Amino acid sequence: MFSTRLGHRRGGNLRQAPRETKFSHGSLLAFERPSFTVDSAKRMNGDELEAVIDQIWDGLLKASSQAEHPWRLPVLGTQGLDGPSVRTMVLRSVDLAARQLITQTDVRSVKLTDFRKDPRVTWLFFDPQTKVQVRAGGRVTVHHDNEFTRASWTAAPGGNKRNYATSLAPGSGSLEQEQAGDAAAAYANFAVLCSEITFIDWLQLGVDHHRRAQFTWTGSDWRGVWVAP
Ligand SMILES: Cc1cc2nc3c(=O)[nH]c(=O)nc-3n(C[C@H](O)[C@H](O)[C@H](O)COP(=O)(O)O)c2cc1C
Repeated sequence: MFSTRLGHRRGGNLRQAPRETKFSHGSLLAFERPSFTVDSAKRMNGDELEAVIDQIWDGLLKASSQAEHPWRLPVLGTQGLDGPSVRTMVLRSVDLAARQLITQTDVRSVKLTDFRKDPRVTWLFFDPQTKVQVRAGGRVTVHHDNEFTRASWTAAPGGNKRNYATSLAPGSGSLEQEQAGDAAAAYANFAVLCSEITFIDWLQLGVDHHRRAQFTWTGSDWRGVWVAP
């Protein structure tokens, strides 16, 4: 287990706690070539795991404020009424201390029905440049017409607000594309989704080898382990 410099809420200082990753040179030497031993030892380093989880949250934070960031448009996976369901979303902000990914949606959209069935979600991020994939799992809290949504609505650009002004619910049948709606009523359709993340699967594709790690929120800290890619 280890703490993260990014200020996630946690109890006590767990930096000195034993790492999940255990590594025995003896057993490795018995089964692997020496060159692989060096590589593996490097990959099993717990400090590196700590750096990975910090990089992940750092990247998510950047993505929420940089329109061109490759993680700006993640895919949200839900348990749909008829099976798994995915869609692209805009990552609006990140609450590091609460480990929350914050997005906006129409309260009438189908995914809201999904959350009533099961609030568990998985977010998928991929950066084609660095070839890093992050899958982040957690639970969604839906905010509608409360202090939180009022603040987000005030900060939202006008163009974004117009998305909520349609009289038809997203996905409902229509003879033609709806052009304009009642702007005054738009706020009533506006919802903010806060996904509290408790599990992260990180995969880095490499030329020689791939690397993969998993992080679980213990309630006070992230526990990280290397896993086979
Ligand atoms: C680039 C892109 C960004 C999108 N961003 C959002 C978003 O931030 N919020 C949202 O509710 N839908 C967004 N959508 C639309 C969703 O992908 C989806 O079509 C819509 O939310 C309805 O999904 P549902 O029927 O599963 O609820 C976006 C679509 C694209 C292509």
